[in-house]
Formats: sequence, structure tokens, C-alpha cells
Amino acid sequence: MRKALEVITFVLGGLLIFFFITQLPQFFEYHHEYKFDDNALRKKALDLNINPIPTNFREASKLLTIKNGEISHDEVALGQKLFNDTLLSKNNDISCATCHKLKEGGEDNLPTAIGHNNQKNPSHLNTPTVLNTAFATAYFWNARAKTLEEQAAGPIQAHFEMNMTQEEVVKRLQESSEYVQLFNTVFENEPAVSFENVQKALASYERTLLTRGSLDEFLEGNNDAMNSKAKKGFELFLTKGCKGCHAGTSFGGLSVEKFPLRTWWNEWLNVQVVNDKTSVLPQFQLIDRTFPFENIGGFKGKDNNKLFRVPILRNIHQTSPYFHNGSVKELKEAVQIMGKYQLGIIFTQEETELIVEFLKTLDGQIIQFEESLNKNINY
Ligand code: HEC
Ligand code: HEC
Repeated sequence: MRKALEVITFVLGGLLIFFFITQLPQFFEYHHEYKFDDNALRKKALDLNINPIPTNFREASKLLTIKNGEISHDEVALGQKLFNDTLLSKNNDISCATCHKLKEGGEDNLPTAIGHNNQKNPSHLNTPTVLNTAFATAYFWNARAKTLEEQAAGPIQAHFEMNMTQEEVVKRLQESSEYVQLFNTVFENEPAVSFENVQKALASYERTLLTRGSLDEFLEGNNDAMNSKAKKGFELFLTKGCKGCHAGTSFGGLSVEKFPLRTWWNEWLNVQVVNDKTSVLPQFQLIDRTFPFENIGGFKGKDNNKLFRVPILRNIHQTSPYFHNGSVKELKEAVQIMGKYQLGIIFTQEETELIVEFLKTLDGQIIQFEESLNKNINY
């Protein structure tokens, strides 16, 4: 009996200490001492496989996650035409580019996507960028597609996006002599005009949607390409744990992670008092603590288990609003949420600004690969 009590006390005591330690960061402001000079910072990044994106497609293709692929200029041109063509939607009014605006960071800047007949995404999902998705290994917020080919079949057939069937797509393309000719030039397999080849062409085009910005120039050796604030922000990103999830050249797209990873004591209490002037007694209301932001849409990720494909952070500064349901408008706030809930760190205002300054260096222009894509490229 006494033994049992001792064990219980031990376990409870242990839990209490564990709880206390995990909540400590909330009560102390920590200060980071910046140690890295330009060379050390660059080396650290390159060692972590964060690479500059080359301006030549043959070089860039070495960084792609798909191996043993082949890409031709004509296939990319066909993919580009399809990507911008409203023919792929039921009412001939929506193209991939309607939601994935290439000049605006590769998405639509709306909290949630709007598709066929002005329907909102039923789970209130935010449109992710298509830029640099060639470096990812999982697609969609719940990572349900493994390749860009597989992904492309989704939006065309989703009733709230383009609302087409595979047969309707093929029929429409066959009715266009221009498309029939283009498919015949690009694809050797029969029939050339097929849904599978639509997926292939779209994916090949997307593999060329790579961007380059000041970070790439810094990684190639130009110390002046980043200002000192951005460099400090980069150091924080690399040393505080962001890079563990937002990994690689794309800064994400490679894994599925729990979000939120940590809970905080002030969030364990799931009721709040509401001011209700009509009542003398205090009124209580249940609070939804699923996410550190409003849970619109009710989406809970892979297996309904708060597992999310880690988003790509290249061009993140241009893609507000943030998170899977677009509930957070400010990049600053997104960074603070990440610090607190994924790393257990309360960043100061200054540190948050430094990280945002770094994230701006991930903005880039789409590389024009014209010349290096003139010949077929095997990768
Ligand atoms: C109505 C707006 C809309 C249209 C049209 C649309 N998309 Fe999307 N796209 C989205 C949304 C929303 C998601 C995320 C959906 C999810 O996770 O379930 C997405 C996800 C993606 C992704 C995955 C990105 C990632 O990193 O996970 C790619 C790639 C993509 N779309 C390409 C395309 C292509 C190619 C087309 C045209 C065939 C297209 N999209 C049409 C809204 C749209
Ligand atoms: C444990 C893994 C993990 C860590 C560590 C992490 N993140 Fe994230 N990050 C995620 C996941 C998962 C999401 C998507 C969550 C969602 O939308 O519900 C995300 C989303 C984001 C977004 C919003 C992206 C978008 O497209 O809306 C930003 C910005 C971001 N993280 C930056 C950071 C920064 C900066 C750090 C370091 C301070 C960091 N993250 C640390 C996993 C992580």
C-alpha cells in the first residue's frame, strides 16, 4: 500500500516538474547572442542543404525531388498553355492561374479559394503557392498527393474547383485542332490526348516555376545581397529550430508535422467568461482551442490528427493570409505563433521583425529558363 502511494507520488511529482519545465519559456525572455559572420551563416545554410536556385534549368533540375524524369521545351509550353486555360473548368471561367496567380506569389491572397459557381473551399482551405513545388515531396495541406502529376488531377475534378470529369477534359481537347497537334508533338504514347498526359504536361510546367531572390545571391557569395537585419533573422531561423521543419531549398514541402505541437497552461482551461449585460450572474462559454487562431472550416489535417504538410516558405511574404485556413493576416503574427507553439519560444518584437526581414529575402522572380530548356533535359 505504502509502496503504491510512493509510486503515485513519484509519478505525480515527476509530471508536475515536467509540466513546470515545459511552461518555463513563457515566464522568461531569453536573449540570443548573434555569433555568425557572413561566411559561417552561408556555410551553415549550405551544410543544411539549403541551396541557391541556379538560373540554368539543367543545373536546377539536379535539385528536383523527382529523379529519372525527362522534360522538353514543348511539353513545358503545353503545360503552360493548359495552366492558363479556362477550358479545364466546367463553366469555362476558371484556370489554374485564377487561383495560382504567378505574379502574386503563386496563390490568390484570399483566406480561402473560390472555385466553380463561386463556391468556397468546403474546408475553408487557403491556396498554397505553386512556385517551387518542384522541390516538395508531398502536396496538399494533408499531404495526400506524392507527385505534381497526381496533384494536378485533384483541382480539375473537384466539384468546388473546376468541376470536370476526365472524359469531358479529353473531349474538349480533342475538339481543338491546336491542342491535338500539340499533344501529338509532345507525347509518343497513344492516345496522345489523354487525361494522364494533361497531368504530365501540367506537372512539367510546374517544375519550371522556380524563383530566385536575394537569399540565392547571398548563398552564392554576395554578402551585400542581404541586410544585417535579414542575416540576424536567418541566424535565428537556422539556430532556433524553424529549419527542422521548413527544410531544404524550398524551406518546406518535405514533411508532415503536428500543429500545434505544444499546449500552454493558459490554454488548458477551455471556458471563458462572457460579458452578458442581460444577466446578473457571470456567463461561461466554451472556447475552441484546436488552433491558436480561429478554427474556420473545421479541417484538422492528415488523419484528422492536426498533421499538416509543412508549407513552403519561399515567397511567403507575398502570400498573406496565412495557415491552412487563412486565419492569420500578418506574417509577424504567423512567426510568433510558430515560435510559441512549434518551438516553445516567445520571440521578442525585435526578433520577430528580424525573422520577417529574413523571410522577405525568400521573395523571388520566376526564372526564365528559355535558353537552357531548348533541348530535352533528363534529370
Ligand atoms: C479554386 C481555386 C483553385 C484552382 C482553380 C486550382 N487550385 Fe491548386 N490549390 C488550391 C487549393 C485551395 C489548394 C490546397 C487544397 C488542399 O490542400 O486540399 C491547392 C493546391 C495545389 C497544389 C499543391 C501545393 C502544395 O504545396 O501542396 C498545386 C501544385 C496546385 N494546387 C496546382 C494546381 C493546378 C495545376 C491547377 C489547375 C489544374 C490548380 N491548382 C487549380 C486552389 C486552386
Ligand atoms: C515542428 C515543425 C515546425 C516548426 C519547428 C516550425 N514550423 Fe512553421 N509551420 C509548420 C506547419 C505544420 C505549418 C502549417 C500549419 C497550418 O497551416 O495549420 C507551418 C506554417 C508556417 C507559416 C505559415 C505558412 C503559410 O503558407 O501559411 C510560417 C510563416 C511559418 N510556419 C514560419 C515558421 C518559422 C519562422 C519558424 C521558426 C520560428 C517555424 N515556422 C517553425 C511546421 C513548423
